[in-house]
Amino acid sequence: MLRAAYVALASLLTLSTAVFAADYPFDVTTISAPDGSVTAKFVSFGATMTELWVKDKFGNARDIILGYDDNSRLLTDPDHPVFNPIVGRYANRIKNGTFSIPITKLPQPDGPNVYHIPTNDHDGQDTLHGGIYGWDRRNWTAISKSKTSVTYHHLDAADEGFPGTVNAYATHTVQNGGILKTTVHATATEKTPIMLTQHIYWNLDAFQGSDNILNHHLHVDSSKVVATDGDAVPTGDFINVNDTPFDFRTPQKIGYKFNETVGLCLAPCQGYDHCWIYDHAHETNPGVTLWSDLSGIKLDITTNQPATQVYTAYWLNTPRKVVHGGPSVNYTSFSAVAIEQEGYIDAINTPEWGVDQIYGPGKDFDWSATYKFSIAP
Ligand SMILES: *[C@@H]1O[C@H](CO)[C@@H](O)[C@H](O)[C@H]1NC(C)=O
Ligand SMILES: *[C@@H]1O[C@H](CO)[C@@H](O)[C@H](O)[C@H]1NC(C)=O
Ligand SMILES: *[C@@H]1O[C@H](CO)[C@@H](O)[C@H](O)[C@H]1NC(C)=O
Ligand SMILES: *[C@@H]1O[C@H](CO)[C@@H](O)[C@H](O)[C@H]1NC(C)=O
Repeated sequence: MLRAAYVALASLLTLSTAVFAADYPFDVTTISAPDGSVTAKFVSFGATMTELWVKDKFGNARDIILGYDDNSRLLTDPDHPVFNPIVGRYANRIKNGTFSIPITKLPQPDGPNVYHIPTNDHDGQDTLHGGIYGWDRRNWTAISKSKTSVTYHHLDAADEGFPGTVNAYATHTVQNGGILKTTVHATATEKTPIMLTQHIYWNLDAFQGSDNILNHHLHVDSSKVVATDGDAVPTGDFINVNDTPFDFRTPQKIGYKFNETVGLCLAPCQGYDHCWIYDHAHETNPGVTLWSDLSGIKLDITTNQPATQVYTAYWLNTPRKVVHGGPSVNYTSFSAVAIEQEGYIDAINTPEWGVDQIYGPGKDFDWSATYKFSIAP
C-alpha cells in the first residue's frame, strides 16, 4: 500500500514538474501578424504582454510598451507598477476592501454577505487591483498557441477572499493591418464581483526623441470623469469635463493643461489617474485615440467596456528596458500613459449608479479590447 502510494505520488510529482517546466511563468511566447505589422510577446505570469513592436512612419519597428528585460521582475519589483498584465478579479480600488452581495452603500463590517479583501493601498484604506496577489501576479497556464494567438487560463479558487471560484481565459491575437486584440472570458461558481482590465503602459515614441508622453495627442470620447476622494475611491459624483483639464473630447496633447493637473491625482501627484465614462458604446468606433507626431504611430482602441482609466504614471521609478535606453536610466513620471479599458470603478460600493458587476452561474463575464495601429496623417 505504502509503496503503491509512493509510486503514485512520485509519478504525480514528475507529471507536475513536467507541466511546470513546459510552463515556466516567465517563458516568452511571440505572436506576429502575417503582414509583419505587429509582433507581441507574452508571458503566462499575469497573461502579461512584455513587448509590442509596431512600425513607425519611417517603416522601422519600435517596442511601444514599458516592461522589464528580466520578466521575473513582474513578481519581484517592490514598486509593482503593473506592466501590461490582466488585472483582476476586481481592477482599480475597492473602498475599505469591503463589499456585500447584493451590494450596499457602506456595508457593515459584520453584516450579512459582506466580504473583506486584503487592503494594499493608501495605508490600508482600500484594495487595489484585486488584492495582494491579484490575477496580475498569478501563474496563468498557456492552453493554446499558434503563430498569431495565445490563450492563457487562470483558476482563481476564491483567492484573496472573493466568493466562489472563477475560471478566466485570456486570449491575445494579432491580425494583418496592425491589429492586436485581447479578450477575457470568465465564469464563476458563485455570485461575485468581476471587473477586469488590461493595464498597458504606452510610449508611442519608444523613448526615441522624447522621454515622456506629454506631447502625445489624446482623444477620449467622454464628458464625465468619476469624482474620487482622498483615497482615490469614488464619491458617487461625476466631474463634468467642460472647462477642466479632463476635456479630451477634441484631441489635445496630454500636457495641454498640465499645470492645472497638480494634485488632481492626490498631491504631490501631477497629471491624471482617473476613470472617464464613455459617452457612447465603442465596440466598433474607437473610444480612445492616442498618437505621436515624432514616431507617427497612432493607436485606436475599441472595447466592450463602458469606461477607461488614464494614468500618466506619476509614481514610476523603475529601470528601463535596454531597448528604451536602460537599465541605467529609469522609467519616471510621465514616461508613459497607462490606458485601461474597464467598468465603472468601485461600482460595487456605489449602488446609486445602478451598475451591475455581480457575475455567477448563468452570467459569464466578457471583456475585450482591440488596439489598431496606423500612421497618423
Ligand atoms: C473596514 O473593514 C474592516 C474589516 O476589514 C472593518 O473592521 C472596519 O470597521 C471597516 N471600516 C469601515 C469604515 O467600515
Ligand atoms: C509560480 O511560478 C513560480 C516560478 O516558477 C514559482 O516559484 C511559484 O511557486 C509559482 N506559484 C504558484 C502559486 O504555483
Ligand atoms: C507651467 O509651469 C511651469 C513652472 O511653473 C512654467 O515654467 C511653464 O511655463 C508653465 N506652462 C504653462 C503651459 O503654463
Ligand atoms: C531607478 O529605480 C531603482 C528602483 O526603483 C532605484 O533603486 C534607483 O535609485 C533608480 N535610479 C535613479 C537614477 O533614480
